[in-house]
Amino acid sequence: MNKEQIAERISHLRRVIEEHSHNYYVLSNPTITDFEYDQLFRELIDLEKANPEFSESSSPTQRVGSDLNLEFEQAAHIYPMLSLDNTYSMEELEDFEKRNKRLLAEDFEYICELKYDGVSISLTYENGLLLRAVTRGDGEKGDDVTQNVKTIKSIPLKLKGRGYPDKFEIRGEIFLPHKGFDMMNQERREQNEPEFANPRNAASGTLKIQNSSIVAKRPLDCFLYYMMGENLPFDNHLDNLEKAREWGFKIAPVLDRRKNMTEVYDFIEYWDKERKKLPYDIDGVVIKINSFRQQQILGMTSKSPRWATAFKFKAEQALTKLESISYQVGRTGAITPVANLTPVQLAGTTVKRASLHNSDQIALHDIRVGDFVFIEKGGEIIPKVVGVDISKRFGNSLPTQFIENCPECGAKLIRSEGEAKHFCPNEDGCPPQIKGKLEHFVSRKAMDIGLAEATIEQLHTHGLLSTVADFYKLKKDQLVTLERFGERSADKLIESIELSKDRPFERVLYALGIRFVGETVAKKLAQKLGSIDVLMNASRVELTSVDEIGEKIADSIISHFSSSKNKAIVSELINFGLQMKTLKKEEPVSSILQNKSIVVSGVFQRFSRDEIKNLIEKNGGKNAGSVSSKTAFIIAGEKMGPEKYEKAKQLNIPIISEDDFIMMINN
Ligand code: IVH
Repeated sequence: MNKEQIAERISHLRRVIEEHSHNYYVLSNPTITDFEYDQLFRELIDLEKANPEFSESSSPTQRVGSDLNLEFEQAAHIYPMLSLDNTYSMEELEDFEKRNKRLLAEDFEYICELKYDGVSISLTYENGLLLRAVTRGDGEKGDDVTQNVKTIKSIPLKLKGRGYPDKFEIRGEIFLPHKGFDMMNQERREQNEPEFANPRNAASGTLKIQNSSIVAKRPLDCFLYYMMGENLPFDNHLDNLEKAREWGFKIAPVLDRRKNMTEVYDFIEYWDKERKKLPYDIDGVVIKINSFRQQQILGMTSKSPRWATAFKFKAEQALTKLESISYQVGRTGAITPVANLTPVQLAGTTVKRASLHNSDQIALHDIRVGDFVFIEKGGEIIPKVVGVDISKRFGNSLPTQFIENCPECGAKLIRSEGEAKHFCPNEDGCPPQIKGKLEHFVSRKAMDIGLAEATIEQLHTHGLLSTVADFYKLKKDQLVTLERFGERSADKLIESIELSKDRPFERVLYALGIRFVGETVAKKLAQKLGSIDVLMNASRVELTSVDEIGEKIADSIISHFSSSKNKAIVSELINFGLQMKTLKKEEPVSSILQNKSIVVSGVFQRFSRDEIKNLIEKNGGKNAGSVSSKTAFIIAGEKMGPEKYEKAKQLNIPIISEDDFIMMINN
């Protein structure tokens, strides 16, 4: 193929792939097999790679994300991103209707929609191309998450059809369907990572990940429900959205025209029931006045428009019998009472167990075995008991007595002042606490030694593991005698344990599992105190003088290291060669670039991109991921990102070469 034919083939492939993507992700109606799709995609990737001059930011290949860690730039909203008034009762809806009648004094119609429970997003399109995606933030400005949003397959990078305004904004909700959410949590369970509490948290967490190639692997989706800008094709909400559907947008699937409040009530009642069958979460419905002219008459308050309101559904509840109460002992020894229930259906799943939180909660509602209790699914994974139906109680039941001894090891429980939970103090002798500590030590964010819970259990039962120092004493010939261990898996485990000796001090500190010393606190302590020696000998005053370390944390650290057993574990770990000091950051060699935010883009001749970034930091400058008005200059190599180039031109930001840069810092 000559260049012209290549260009043509590339543009043909892009068009066909986008069309199939749209059929699949927006219309849910695939027209080719996955295999055929992958082949077209592969061909496009190869052609673009071999012919980088044809690269384009709106190509479907750009949806795979990048490994570059970007700090999100803030972007101002052209139109503030308002929220909606929430109502929970029909009376409040009546007030909404009355106000509309009073202020409009003419006929009007409502558009009723579902209230999707995700993260709101504002997309700006210019000349049919996705220019920017910004989160709500504080309503005035949000995070520019364009790179992440580009990985969402149902969001068009390039619009279809004709008649769209040169520039407009469309807003909607990014969410995770139930299936994708379950998949993600299953993966997290397998990786020993904490699960997301609900799809909304998972969606918002995903959108904030600063590595779009991870985002690309998460099945996010997006419904759009609000268009704004000048020169929109119609003077009302509904027609514009219907038109936008033709341009390739995944518009909210339910947009119902309703003439009056009676019809709105029908809509609400219908969806309060039907929502249980939807494959994603909604938490209410949204009612909007359709006409833009009337919207303008109604205006807005500083927080929300007067032309729309949200009716929120009550959390779903179920009533069932409390058969018994059991008590769980966590890794830190915290005791959680758990309700064992007669199985009951709630929001799409069968519930057999629910949390009772702590003894205060039980006393507050006077919850007794044999009672009929109301359960609710809140933001957490496990449902909770929220009340008792006293009318169903038999006369002979007795108030619940909270246990006094640990159900696992028999130790007498303690409850410290100001603590809601009871604790088992037998840290070193209580099985779930021992295993919990071991599991925590090897987990991803700690020492990251790939070991399943079942294997830890196995090693523990065989007497090979009781403290975290024991990991470093494991020998291959001990492992191969165990069931499920072969040569290969034993080698792998030993190697992975060996590798963990390189983890930085802050992770070792987190891995020790000191109460209240989570990831962030461990980082702070490691940075400020620098070594385990200093930490172990620090006084309460010295500890609390570290940023964000309060008395509770300080006391917990002191108590941890006052135990001779814990001290012995630390000396063993030191002897095994774990990192017990924070490595000093390299001191800057100059301050030529002090307070300058610099963007590096493209491929360079003399240095790698990382080397250039390093030089920037060494000379006091800051690396930024994207161009903004705060950018001091851009160091560009070959094939600089076209978006960055455009933006730099727009904002009049100097672009310099790598040679210019070297001269600059050598001066
Ligand atoms: S319209 C000015 N429509 O609810 C009106 N919002 O509490 C802009 N939401 O921030 C919003 N579904 O994130 C609108 N069909 C829908 C919605 C919806 C969910 C969210 C949105 C907004 C929040 C308001």
